[in-house]
Amino acid sequence: MQKVIVLDFGGQYNQLIARRVRECNVYCEVKSYTTPLSQLASEKPIGMIFTGGPSSVYDPASPQVDPAIFELGIPILGICYGCQLMAHHLGGRVTAGTEDTAREYGKTDTFFETDCKLFKGLDKEGVTWMSHGDYMEKVPDGFSLVAHSAACPTVAICDESRGFYGVQFHPEVNHTQHGTDMIRNFLYEVCGAAGDWTMGDYRDTAVAQIREKVGDGKVLLALSGGVDSSVAAALIAEAVGKQLTCVFVDHGLMRLNEGDEVEAAFKKWDINFIRADAEELFLGKLAGETEPERKRKIIGEEFIRVFEAEAKKIGKVDYLAQGTIYPDVIESGLGASATIKSHHNVGGLPDYVDFKEIIEPLRMLFKDEVRGLGRELGLPEYLVMRQPFPGPGLAIRVIGEITKEKLDTLRLADFIFRDEVAKAKLEDSMNQYFAVLTNMRSVGVMGDGRTYDYTLALRSVTTTDFMTADWTRIPYDVLDRVSTRIVNEVPHINRIVYDITSKPPATIEWE
Ligand code: XMP
Repeated sequence: MQKVIVLDFGGQYNQLIARRVRECNVYCEVKSYTTPLSQLASEKPIGMIFTGGPSSVYDPASPQVDPAIFELGIPILGICYGCQLMAHHLGGRVTAGTEDTAREYGKTDTFFETDCKLFKGLDKEGVTWMSHGDYMEKVPDGFSLVAHSAACPTVAICDESRGFYGVQFHPEVNHTQHGTDMIRNFLYEVCGAAGDWTMGDYRDTAVAQIREKVGDGKVLLALSGGVDSSVAAALIAEAVGKQLTCVFVDHGLMRLNEGDEVEAAFKKWDINFIRADAEELFLGKLAGETEPERKRKIIGEEFIRVFEAEAKKIGKVDYLAQGTIYPDVIESGLGASATIKSHHNVGGLPDYVDFKEIIEPLRMLFKDEVRGLGRELGLPEYLVMRQPFPGPGLAIRVIGEITKEKLDTLRLADFIFRDEVAKAKLEDSMNQYFAVLTNMRSVGVMGDGRTYDYTLALRSVTTTDFMTADWTRIPYDVLDRVSTRIVNEVPHINRIVYDITSKPPATIEWE
C-alpha cells in the first residue's frame, strides 16, 4: 500500500491534513520533524507534506529538517511554515511580513496559475485561509510563482521538475475553497497515487495480519460498548473467532437498552462473549457517594476488579486487545495539561491481566475511518454512530447521590431527548447530547396538584475535538417537543432547562 508522510512541525491543523489525504483514498501517517531521515526514506513514501507551525524559519531555535531530504527524489508539498522551510533551505529568503506587505490572517482572495499541477482543473480565483506573519521575500531559484493575493506576491511556489510545491495558505481547512482538490492534485497528479486506501482493503489486510500474529493464541478484550472497542472486537472476531473473549462489564450505568444492544450486535460472531452483570455491585459501592472524582475512582477500581475476575476464569491469555485510535496516538506526544477530570479508561488495565502483548488493530485509524470499518464488518448503525459516552456512564450525569430510581428516570428522559433529535434529523449538527438529572427539586403544578420534583437539564454540544465546544442551537420547536414529552412521560421530573454554556468555561459533562 502506498504511503504519504505528513511531517509535523507543530501546526494546529496537522491531523486535519492527514485526514484530508486519507479522504482522497491515500494512506498517510503523521511523523515528527525529528524523525531521522533514514527512517523516513526507508518507509518509501510516495510523497511528503510539511505542515504549518508556529515558528519562524529564520529563528535558530525553529524546527528544521536535514537538507538531504530534498535530495531523496520524493515530491514535497509545504504548507505555510512547511512552505517557508522549503524556500529557506533551497535558496529563497523568508522574512517577517509587515502590515501592508504580507501578513495575512483569515479568508483571502487568491489568484492561481492553473497550469501548475497543484491547481489543475480549478478556478483561477478563489478564497484561501491564511495565517502567516512571515513571507517569502525571495523565491528559491528554479521555482515559479503560481499564486498571489492582493497583499502577498508569493502565495504559492513550485518546481515541477522536482515535484516541490509550497503554499502559504492552509488547503486542509474548510475555509479554503477547493483545498481538498489541491491536496488531491498533489497526491494524484504529482505523487502518482493509485488511491489504494479503502476500508474494504483495510479490513482484509487487518484480518490477515491479526490471524498471522495471533496464530492459535487467545485474545482478551474489554468491551465498553463504545465505537472503538466494538469495532476492535468485531475485527478480531472476524479474524480469529472463538479465540477471542470479550468481557463486557455491565455496570448498570448505561443508557436505555444499551447493554442489550451491544450484546445483540455480537451475536453474529462465534466468540466467547461474557456479559458480567455487575449493576448491584456498582450501585452498592456508589451508594451515598456524591463527589464526582470519588464516583469516577470507585467505578474505575470496580471495573478493573470485575474485569480481572472474569479474565482469571479464562486463565492465561496471549494478547490483550485495545481500541486505541490514531488521534490518541498522535496526541499522546503532546505536553502535560492540567487534569480537569480524570478519565478512568486511560491506562490501568494491563497490569492486572496475565498476557504477553497488547494488540491495537485500530491504532492507525481516525474516528470516521473506525466507523467506516465497523460498517464494513456489518456492525449495526446504532453502534457505529454511537456518540462518545464517558466510561463512568450515567453516574456522572446523575448529580449527587446515585440511586437505581434516579438512573431509571434519567435513562427514560435521555432516551426521549435522543429520540426527538433523531426524528428532527439533527444528529449531524450535534456531536454529543444527553440529559442530566440535577440534584435540585422545585415546585410545579400538574393537573390540580402541587408537585415537588427534579429539574432535568438537556446538554448538547457542537465540537470537533471535545477540548472546546459550543452549545448547539437546537430549534425551539424541537426543545419544546422534548420538554413536553419528558414531563408527560417521565415520573419525578417537573422542570426542564437547556444548558447554554460553551466549553470553556463549562465542561461538557456536568461532573
Ligand atoms: P468534559 O466533561 O471533560 O468531557 O468536557 C470531554 C469529553 O470526555 C468525556 N468524558 C469522559 N470520558 N471517562 C471517559 O471515558 C470520563 O471519566 C469522562 N469524563 C468526561 C465526555 O463525555 C466528553 O466527550
